[in-house]
Amino acid sequence: MLKEPGINKNLTKKVYIETFGCQMNEHDTGRMLYHLEQIGYGQSEKRDDADIIIINTCAVREKAANRLFGHLGNLKPIKEANPGMLICVGGCTAQNIRDQIQKKCPFVDIVFGTHNISELPALIEQRIRGEKSICSIINDGFDHDLNKVKRVSSFQALVPITIGCNNFCSYCIVPYVRGREKSIEQASIIRSVKDMVSGGIVEVTLLGQNVNSYGKDTGKDINFSNLLESVSDIAGLKRIRFMTSHPKDCSPDLVRVIKERDNIVNHFHLPLQAGSNNVLEKMNRGYTREQYLGIIDNIRNSISNSTITSDIIVGFPGEERKDFEDTLDMVRRVRFGRVFTFIYSPREGTDASKMEDAVPLEEKKKWFNELLQVQNKISCEENEKFSGMKVEVLVEGKSHKDGGLLEGRMENNTVVNFEGSTNLIGKIIPVRIVHARTFHMMGELVS
Ligand code: 5AD
Ligand code: SF4
Repeated sequence: MLKEPGINKNLTKKVYIETFGCQMNEHDTGRMLYHLEQIGYGQSEKRDDADIIIINTCAVREKAANRLFGHLGNLKPIKEANPGMLICVGGCTAQNIRDQIQKKCPFVDIVFGTHNISELPALIEQRIRGEKSICSIINDGFDHDLNKVKRVSSFQALVPITIGCNNFCSYCIVPYVRGREKSIEQASIIRSVKDMVSGGIVEVTLLGQNVNSYGKDTGKDINFSNLLESVSDIAGLKRIRFMTSHPKDCSPDLVRVIKERDNIVNHFHLPLQAGSNNVLEKMNRGYTREQYLGIIDNIRNSISNSTITSDIIVGFPGEERKDFEDTLDMVRRVRFGRVFTFIYSPREGTDASKMEDAVPLEEKKKWFNELLQVQNKISCEENEKFSGMKVEVLVEGKSHKDGGLLEGRMENNTVVNFEGSTNLIGKIIPVRIVHARTFHMMGELVS
């Protein structure tokens, strides 16, 4: 027998959510938790004794789907032993391969899309009342209420400002699974961030696939720079991050606002993706390497202590050794603080998946490792520049690597580990950098 959901907020039932992918998915998990609390489900840290298990999937790379089926395979015996438990699959892979999920895994109770999160309580109730396994997915929509989110942190919050993407980079599945770009109303963002700050939030991350194009879909005279200025004006808000900036929309006005405002971080995540103009064009990125370098010069000339991080794809269809060398050349010229590197993964339905791809995976892996080596050395050298410096760190909690230490983040998002009391969690404090490593720093409290 399936258990009846609670009708009050006593949270007598438990939901376990496993989240894959980007910060937008993390935020969506917060939305799922909010909606499930309304019908009596509290979050569980343990999977096997939960009443509902939800997998919130990512679809950016091909292996995401294989991984999902591996996971579901592990859940099958648990469901068989406990038929009252509900297994649900949401997120981008659910949106992308709904039919396959239902066909291969008939024991999955509910498949729901990225635009159907607020509908979850109703879907759960339907299933519990005996309806057959449910698939509820609409292809495009707008299902967002910034206030209907369960917050996991008392001092940091993710704030979506745009949903979806219009760019159709030729390798990318996101526009197909998240739909067209829609901006959340400025007044609603401001109201919501003000409420968060009154509740103790000190850092917000403004989220979108391309935050720089905020407002373009509205036909109104609003843009990301204006939004940032208004968010920055909110008293008590100490740090504003934003993710992801698309280079083609990174305007000088945006750089000016970031330079002028102390509570906006001097960190730009500007995915380069490739260093060769030939590949950039095939990727439909909308800029050349020369234009990208121009944007970097503009940022560095205006904000000397800025950090630029990036995403790079290796082995795009048709990429040759000389194109890859252009990527290495860009990495050496720009000197990113950190790069998230990916081997190209074909996504069905995208333009790139139809392009001829002659380079063997083994060769791509060699290029990938070469890129990592070059970039890791640069990351270490860039981090080394902070050695001996006093930096402001938002203390996030105990260190993931060494629970005896605290872990915090510098303005440029680099992790710093240091000794200190857990009373400091949630506070922005000065720390001196004593040792720089490739992906993090060691520091000491400045008294
Ligand atoms: N293959 C490999 N990497 C990809 N990304 C997006 N789509 C693909 C793909 N098909 C990478 C891009 C993007 C990051 C989030 O994931 O670099 O910026
Ligand atoms: Fe994908 Fe390009 Fe949109 Fe980023 S900007 S989500 S890479 S289509």
